[in-house]
Amino acid sequence: MTSSDRILSPALRSKLMNAEAAAALIPSGVNVGMSGFTGAGYPKAVPGALAKRIMDANLHGKNFKIGVWTGASTAPELDGALAMVDGVELRLPYQSDPTCRKRINAGEMEYLDMHLSQVAQFVWFGFLGKLDVAVVEVAGVLEDGRLIPSSSVGNNKTWLEQADKIILEVNTWQSSALEGMHDVYYGTALPPHRKPIPLVKVDDRIGEPYLRCDPEKVIAVVETATPDRNSAFSAPDESSRLIAGHILEFFQHEVKKGRLPADLLPLQSGVGNIANAVMAGLDQGPFNNLTAYTEVLQDGMLDLLKSGKLACASATAFSLSSAALAELNADLARYRERIILRPQEISNHPELIRRLGVIAMNGMIEADIYGNVNSTHVMGTRIMNGIGGSGDFARNAYISIFMTPSQAKGGEISCIVPMASHVDHTEHDVQIIVTEQGLADLRGLSPKQRARVIIENCAHPHFRPALNDYYKRALLHSEGKQTPHLLDEALSWHLRYLRGGQM
Ligand code: COA
Repeated sequence: MTSSDRILSPALRSKLMNAEAAAALIPSGVNVGMSGFTGAGYPKAVPGALAKRIMDANLHGKNFKIGVWTGASTAPELDGALAMVDGVELRLPYQSDPTCRKRINAGEMEYLDMHLSQVAQFVWFGFLGKLDVAVVEVAGVLEDGRLIPSSSVGNNKTWLEQADKIILEVNTWQSSALEGMHDVYYGTALPPHRKPIPLVKVDDRIGEPYLRCDPEKVIAVVETATPDRNSAFSAPDESSRLIAGHILEFFQHEVKKGRLPADLLPLQSGVGNIANAVMAGLDQGPFNNLTAYTEVLQDGMLDLLKSGKLACASATAFSLSSAALAELNADLARYRERIILRPQEISNHPELIRRLGVIAMNGMIEADIYGNVNSTHVMGTRIMNGIGGSGDFARNAYISIFMTPSQAKGGEISCIVPMASHVDHTEHDVQIIVTEQGLADLRGLSPKQRARVIIENCAHPHFRPALNDYYKRALLHSEGKQTPHLLDEALSWHLRYLRGGQM
């Protein structure tokens, strides 16, 4: 594969250069919008070259830092490389990189954790400041300069529109059969000029398969042939299998009650191994003709597409293991009919999630006995990843499900606690909590009714008596009886753990 195969525009081909030369065009102090979403479609060469430049500058006593905006998490070549050289002033909107996480938690990097659906519009509103440079991976360039998106769409449309300057990475490793899989919606507008988004079914196409790009703004084109970061999923363990089982049973119950159709409603499945295990469970389950309106397409969903259980899936990115990706790429032309990749402002759009009646299923760190959910902060202060799309989906879903094993760190931590040490999803946005112990259906329940169901159905038996004890004493001694708490004790479980013991 040569540049002439993938870069058909002579104007853009004339801007070909190596990554070092392209990185030299990014000055210190700028905000850079990078492509990339859960390890798919991030630029592979320029960030590394930029990190080297930053390291050299810092060695010479200069303070070279940039703002890094992305779709979501990326990979060691981007987040890892830039964090390693302390080159990031502020990072947004989601990350999962260990080096990045360490810097954030050490107070060495500012991190703005945002709802993923809101990033593009916040840039348009001018809330985040100016976007100076876009560095976007694409699968190819058409003769007229339009771009074939890569394995994620993320915020690329907005980066290309809003940035003053654009650097493109054309990655020949990405399958050329990606062409036609994307649906980039160009009908967004600023309030008060917004119109309803004309998407009423998961597989509706409302946009264009290409990204528009002003060739005048392109300052560099870099060729790469490097794979995405494709992390393997662990095989579902006993706990994940039990969680999946409870969810499947719940779906069957809801169908029987007439609250869900026999083919359910569009599924959203969050990141991580449990979400993947739920998909595996659905593959063995009784439901057919399923659809997915989700953020990332993981292995489990690909399996569902393969088995025919899933009719179609809409997402903004792939998040596949290498093995699953090889399978997908071998047959991409066929899958293209049933997979649509959209900008994240559309894949996660509250209007569409509410209209379609999405069933949201997301992982969490902990929930409290009243159903407030912490998705992001370990022991209240240390960021794990970020809220991602969980808030976009949870608040607007038909049914919002949160799942976790009942214990973490070998049983030292209870994932059901008296009071969540940080709240991302309030009790109002959480309808179902599931652990391997069971499922708590919180719909229509008051806080006190919720507490009884959550403790009884979801807490680990090891921690259940202590939770019941807390709840009963709170009921007696709490000043207010709507959401009873003992304020001097509510976070004592976390403190006990931090002081070196068990919760
Ligand atoms: N207290 C402290 N640590 C906890 C914990 C708790 N209550 N619960 C889990 N953890 C730790 C685990 O021990 C594990 O740590 P390790 O990496 O050191 O092994 C880590 O958190 C991940 O937990 P795991 O059980 O493997 O769950 P996961 O892979 O399903 O991830 C989240 C769980 C919450 C971190 C993940 O779902 C997430 O980032 N969610 C927010 C974003 C989101 O929901 N995106 C989807 C929207 S489309």
